[in-house]
Amino acid sequence: MLIKRPSDIRPSEITDREIYRARRRFLQGAPAALAAAALPGLFSTPALAAQKLPGAGKSPYSTREPATPYKEVTTYNNFYEFGTDKADPARAARTLITRPWTVTIEGEVKKPGTHGIEELLRLAPLEERVYRLRCVEGWSMVIPWTGFSLSEVIRRAEPTGNARYVEFVSLHDPRQMPGQRSGVLDWPYVEGLRLDEAMHPLTLLAFGLYGEALPQQNGAPLRLVVPWKYGFKSAKSIVKIRLVEKPPVSAWMRAAPGEYGFFSNVNPAVDHPRWSQARERRIGEFLKRPTLPFNGYGDQVAQLYAGMDLKKYF
Ligand code: MTE
Repeated sequence: MLIKRPSDIRPSEITDREIYRARRRFLQGAPAALAAAALPGLFSTPALAAQKLPGAGKSPYSTREPATPYKEVTTYNNFYEFGTDKADPARAARTLITRPWTVTIEGEVKKPGTHGIEELLRLAPLEERVYRLRCVEGWSMVIPWTGFSLSEVIRRAEPTGNARYVEFVSLHDPRQMPGQRSGVLDWPYVEGLRLDEAMHPLTLLAFGLYGEALPQQNGAPLRLVVPWKYGFKSAKSIVKIRLVEKPPVSAWMRAAPGEYGFFSNVNPAVDHPRWSQARERRIGEFLKRPTLPFNGYGDQVAQLYAGMDLKKYF
């Protein structure tokens, strides 16, 4: 990535997970808080962004590994629209306006349309999915997301027989996104998946983390999370989902075609041209751990790539 190798982060001083569980227990018993969170317009100012989302069910896809502390998840970010330093998004993204927000679904679908964020939120029951996220830079986190499978949205748009890939486009608004005034990437941020990857139940459309609406720096109001791929495939602050015939060219493929392929599956056997991918540092831990093929999700997704040379299709 045109990104520096991560510098060491101090481990969190608190066992954040326990605080999270306690907060959840509190909120579950607080109908007033839930009712307040459901009021329209509550998300319209950045200060009120951290609201509880409507109740989310558990998911069999969740890892039981301890979640990375909330503080690290929300202050150590890659969101180049707000700067290239890990600390930039938490500071600079506060001004990102996430209500009203619409997502356009277009291209090879029988039912194209533009949908408001509140409508999308109600499309399917929300689930909490605790996923590992492995960044191409060599660090990883465990994040409790709230959302539902992206397939819920795509299925309803009714892909035509020509649809083979899905392109995701993030917001392009240099007035709100200071990083877009620089040419570090060819804006807007674009990512892509093969249609079967996009329809895989693990592929998550996330609206929240730690039981609250997504903070801006994590890609509010909705983002993709594809846990078996390097983190950059998980586009943030999405405004367009386009079903297409040919593989989309992602922003990273455009910026450095020799370094970033279309698939970008987590693969310890295929090094990045400038560094090894064999090991990773879980944020908050001191020693590195081995990176697992498909980020540990091989049982669920390896068959999507049966017969493919993953060194060639990296
Ligand atoms: N989406 C957009 N629009 N812009 C970005 O710069 N960075 C990607 C991905 N999605 C990025 C993006 C990268 S490199 C990573 S590792 C993850 O977001 C980081 O997500 P997080 O900050 O929520 O951990």
